[in-house]
Amino acid sequence: MNVVIGSDGMFCPPIELKDPLMAPYGNDTTTEEILDGIDLTGRRFVVTGASSGLGAESTRALAAHGAFVTMLARSPEKNEAAAAAVRESVPDARLELGTVDLADLSSIRAFADRYRRDHDAIDVLMNNAGVMACPFGHTADGFEMQFGTNHLGHFLLTGLLVPAILAGTEPRIVNLSSAAHSISDVDLDDPNFETTEYDPWGSYGRSKTANVLFTRELARRLGPEGVLSFAVHPGGIMTNLGRHLDEELINQMMERSKARAEAAGNAAGEFRFKSVEAGAASQVWAATAPELVDHNGAYLGDCQLGVEGADPGGNGFVSYILDDDKARRLWTLSEQLVGQTLDL
Ligand SMILES: NC(=O)c1ccc[n+]([C@@H]2O[C@H](COP(=O)([O-])OP(=O)(O)OC[C@H]3O[C@@H](n4cnc5c(N)ncnc54)[C@H](OP(=O)(O)O)[C@@H]3O)[C@@H](O)[C@H]2O)c1
Repeated sequence: MNVVIGSDGMFCPPIELKDPLMAPYGNDTTTEEILDGIDLTGRRFVVTGASSGLGAESTRALAAHGAFVTMLARSPEKNEAAAAAVRESVPDARLELGTVDLADLSSIRAFADRYRRDHDAIDVLMNNAGVMACPFGHTADGFEMQFGTNHLGHFLLTGLLVPAILAGTEPRIVNLSSAAHSISDVDLDDPNFETTEYDPWGSYGRSKTANVLFTRELARRLGPEGVLSFAVHPGGIMTNLGRHLDEELINQMMERSKARAEAAGNAAGEFRFKSVEAGAASQVWAATAPELVDHNGAYLGDCQLGVEGADPGGNGFVSYILDDDKARRLWTLSEQLVGQTLDL
């Protein structure tokens, strides 16, 4: 059965591939097609990892439609360069730049304090930053780098910004996950690879599963307050994300991608990169689409609702991301690790 993640822990009814919601868009839909005819004037977006790749393209597309975008990056220089590139194509872009290192809890706390001092509200928080398949390493606070950056950093940032999100208009939280969630479930007993042998892809997979479980728990907790949360697989896009990949890791990625496509009945099974404009389309869709209002907590891919058991390279997902008990336990563990109870 195809199951779509719904709000408040309930599953939405099965959705067939021909559902009208899924019909208009596909894997080559671009940000411009998503935003065609949409005026975002007055909407306030915060985008992490805005200095590169999908975050930079999301910023450009949103700004081109009138949005006010706070671009967050750990490198002010890269952020300035990315903002300059956005302004080249959108001269009247309404941008603000902020510095935050998601691998450092003190940096996140300092940014959140600054943000709350200067702003009352956020309409959309797009948790887009990420690291992939890096060598074994630790964040400033001693967490394994991928779990620490991709999940825990965004967990704390989101929690600290929730008061502003609750003050937003029709607010949303968009968390970038990945088809790589299908590589591994989270390990709540050894989240930092203290006893498990480190594997760069396994760690990335865990962190991207954590992004979805976090989304589900956000949907459960904040849905009743009017906040929508979505998890997104953007597709495969050539960006700086691949900076740590050597030949062996690339071969592993290609073999896994082919195997999971075949397992899901996608016989062609070939890997096709998207343009960055098509890659950022799903997260921009998640951030803006009115047709998603009844799908709080959903996993999205190729600008469509997720489908259990379908190819994760498209909009398919693996069943363990539906584990609400694990989502709750991940939340509790995350609070313990960041040393802060999030009051929501
Ligand atoms: N590209 C794909 O094929 C693909 C597929 C599935 C999922 N995704 C997801 O999409 C998201 C965006 O990836 P992308 O392809 O656009 O990659 P990217 O071009 O490498 O951009 C990642 C962004 O995250 C930032 N970042 C990394 N570590 C950070 C930290 N500690 N603190 C703050 N910012 C940090 C990077 O800053 P620096 O430039 O300073 O490192 C950069 O701005 C990621 O979450 C990724 O997992 C991408």
